[in-house]
Formats: sequence, structure tokens, C-alpha cells
Amino acid sequence: MKELMQSLRESSIKAILECESAELLEQLRVKYLGKKGELTAILRQMGKLTAEERPAMGQLANKLRADIEEALDKRKTQINSLMLEKKLEEEALDVTMPGEKYALGHKHPMYNVLDQIKDIFIGMGFEIVDGPEIELADYNFSKLNIEEGHPSREWTDTFYFTPDSKILLRTQTSPMQIHAMETRELPIRIIAPGRVYRKDEVDATHSPMFHQIEGMVIDKGVTMSDLKATLNLVVEKIYGKGTVTRFRPHHFPFTEPSCEMDIQCHKCGGKGCPTCKGEGWIEVLGAGMVHPKVLAGCGIDPDVYSGWAFGMGLERLALGEYKITDMRLIFENDVRFLEQF
Ligand code: DAH
Repeated sequence: MKELMQSLRESSIKAILECESAELLEQLRVKYLGKKGELTAILRQMGKLTAEERPAMGQLANKLRADIEEALDKRKTQINSLMLEKKLEEEALDVTMPGEKYALGHKHPMYNVLDQIKDIFIGMGFEIVDGPEIELADYNFSKLNIEEGHPSREWTDTFYFTPDSKILLRTQTSPMQIHAMETRELPIRIIAPGRVYRKDEVDATHSPMFHQIEGMVIDKGVTMSDLKATLNLVVEKIYGKGTVTRFRPHHFPFTEPSCEMDIQCHKCGGKGCPTCKGEGWIEVLGAGMVHPKVLAGCGIDPDVYSGWAFGMGLERLALGEYKITDMRLIFENDVRFLEQF
């Protein structure tokens, strides 16, 4: 029995000290010290010994158990520190390695122009409002005094969702005038930028989706001269002091009187050049005094209140400002183009 214990001591300690992982070490503990382990197997033979022999063997066995346990503990500590070292090595960060280059994006050129316009209007006490791109024909047309049968209501011009022509993609931001008048306290001073949709083929100056900015003021005693003064101020802020404007009579169903505003070409000073296509003037927006019928339809008494409104295309403005000649560049989002701004 003594020999058996001696050979168990040698084999177990050797195996333990050579063991490489915590899991294997646990397996060894079970193998040697477990209930069905090798030491237990030896101790079962104690019964065969004489009463005199037993105490000495018992002591030897206890010492062997203690030694094996000590070896297990020692190896466990070693394995733990080896693992930690390995982990540290694997996760080491070399701070001298060159970093990964990060490509930072920036604002789209058209949104630069929009933000500039927002700032100008906010500075004059206007609020920026947002509204639905999916709109009722009532708001896009009827409440704006655009009656059934008007050419802009045709299926060839407008994207409808329903066969009864009641739900559509808004063709202009003007329905935001109605939303504002129906939901806001008077007086109203808003601009409403956003996307609009028309059945246009894509070319250098057209896209089925583009952006407009609607503007509106409703208060007591508002006149056409307020409209002109405000828009002249905006134009001077964008194109510089002294920029000349002209207001041409025009027709829009929802304003009366209506006009279009041109600016004198800031490139050639009105002589005619490629920027203004030889005209000397560049058309910027449509505007007018809100039609009494439109005011009344929104529950505003036209005898007490009056107002003006305008609508302008944002792409056109951005093209002009950045001297871009093809509108498709605005939407294609080719970074080689966008990086230039
Ligand atoms: N909604 C018009 C369009 O898309 C532009 C416009 C004209 C808006 C006159 C207005 C306005 O608010 O008063 O052509």
C-alpha cells in the first residue's frame, strides 16, 4: 500500500505540474482526490491492514492528500497568472500604430442655403414650421382657391394615391398656409420649407421631387409694401446690399394681387450674361396678398386681417449661389461633387 501511495504521489504531482489549463486541472483533482478517485481506491484497501499498521498508513494517506491539494493550488495560481499574461499580450494596444482615417461628412450645399434663409427669417421673428408631404387635395388645391378642372390638378401633373383624386403628394408648400391659418393664433409669421412632388421628367432644371420654401404673414393692416420690404431685405442679406429687385404682375389663384419677384443679375448687373441667360434678371419667387376667399375659408375675417405669402424654389437658389449648372448634381449625391462645397 505504501508503494501504491508512493507511485500515486509521483504520477499525480507530475501530471499536475505539467497541466496547462484550469479545466484539465479540475479533471485531475477529480481523478486523484474525487469520491471515485485513485486515492479513495487505495484507502479502500485499509481494511486489509492490521490494527497496528493502520494509523501510520492513515497518516501517510492524509499527507499525500494534503500534498496533492497543495500541488493543485500551486498549479492553479500559476495557470491563472499565465492566462492573465496571455490575455494582456493579446489585448495590448500599440499607441504608436497609425490611426484609421475618418472621412468626415459635411452639410449638403442646398441645406447651407436653406439654413442661411432660416436664419434671416428667424432674425425677423418668423417661426419655421413643418408639414405633411402626403396631403389632401383639399389642402393642396381647393382651400387655396385652385378649383376642380385647374390644369395643375390633372393626373398628368400630380402624383395621386387614390382614384378619387383626394390624396396626393403635395405639389407645392402652399398648403402649409392653410395648416398655419387653421391651427395657429393670429398674428402669423412663418416659413415652411419642404419637399414637393410633380410629374416632371428629370433634366438639368427639373426633378419630380424638389424643395420649396413657403412664407406667410397674417396680421391687421398688412399690405403689399410689407411684402416688398421684407423680400427686398431677404434678398440683400443673401446677395448683398443694393441688390435690385423687380416685382412683375402675375396670377396665382390663392393671392390677389399676385406677382413674381426677379433680382437683377448679380453676375452682370443686368447687362445680360450666361448666368441670367441674357435676360439681365433672374426669377426668384412667386408672391402676393393672400386672397380674401382663402382667408375666409380658414375662418379669418378678411375685413379685419390681411396677409402676404410667397413661395420659392430652393434648388434654383442653391444652383445660383454655388454657380451649379445642372440640378441633377444636387440629388445624385456623388461625393466627388459634394466635397467641393
Ligand atoms: N405655390 C406656388 C408655386 O408652386 C408659388 C407661390 C406663389 C407661393 C405665390 C405663394 C404665393 O405663397 O403667394 O408655383
